[in-house]
Amino acid sequence: MTIDVFDTPDALAMAAADAFAAATATAPRFSVALAGGSTPKRMYALLADAPVNWSRVHVYWGDERCVPPTDSASNYRMTREALLDHVPIPSDNVHRMRGEIDPATAAAEYEQRLRSTLDVRFDLVLLGLGSDGHTASLFPHAATLQESDRWVVADYAAVVSMWRITLTPVAINTAARVWFLVAGEEKADVLRRIVHGPRLPHELPAQLIAPPAGELRWLVDAAAASRLERT
Ligand code: 6PG
Repeated sequence: MTIDVFDTPDALAMAAADAFAAATATAPRFSVALAGGSTPKRMYALLADAPVNWSRVHVYWGDERCVPPTDSASNYRMTREALLDHVPIPSDNVHRMRGEIDPATAAAEYEQRLRSTLDVRFDLVLLGLGSDGHTASLFPHAATLQESDRWVVADYAAVVSMWRITLTPVAINTAARVWFLVAGEEKADVLRRIVHGPRLPHELPAQLIAPPAGELRWLVDAAAASRLERT
């Protein structure tokens, strides 16, 4: 696990966009699962102008809210507006979670799509971090944290009063790279608990993310890193 600290959220987003462009440069096919949230969104806006061969990139989502793709809460809509509408990515390369249909059906459908389109695993999974320790739509104390077989599940997230579809830790941990993008003072305490505290994955689901054959990288701004121990 590496932790890279950047002075500002914009510097973090720039570094993440540059790293994404570099990672895709030599890959004949590059599969990435995108995160929702404001911190990843900054990166997406910069990616729109990055030197990426989008014909090689296949875009998936790490999670989705169970709303129509036109809804303001939709991660797909956010990503489309920030990035996909601005790059020449083939429509067949965009693999949307269908938040507008029955959640369990959408999760099962997405699982099939992953298993039929992924080359075994993700090349990259981007993740944000909630101040409660959630990542993707893996929330504290959720039964889905214990899922050991499925790659995609649907869950009612009471803390946000909505159904969500999410990749499971099993799916995320297949990745060749997992990058957390974390910014803001409000994340400093939870980041300290995740990095320095005891392993409590049911309270801190982000602690479940540890790709055994992949890179785990935290890109954080100075505010979020303000309570980390200096090494
Ligand atoms: C979502 C995201 C969620 C998000 C974190 C961080 O659908 O909301 O997947 O996990 O990444 O809540 O969001 P911020 O970066 O906006 O704090």
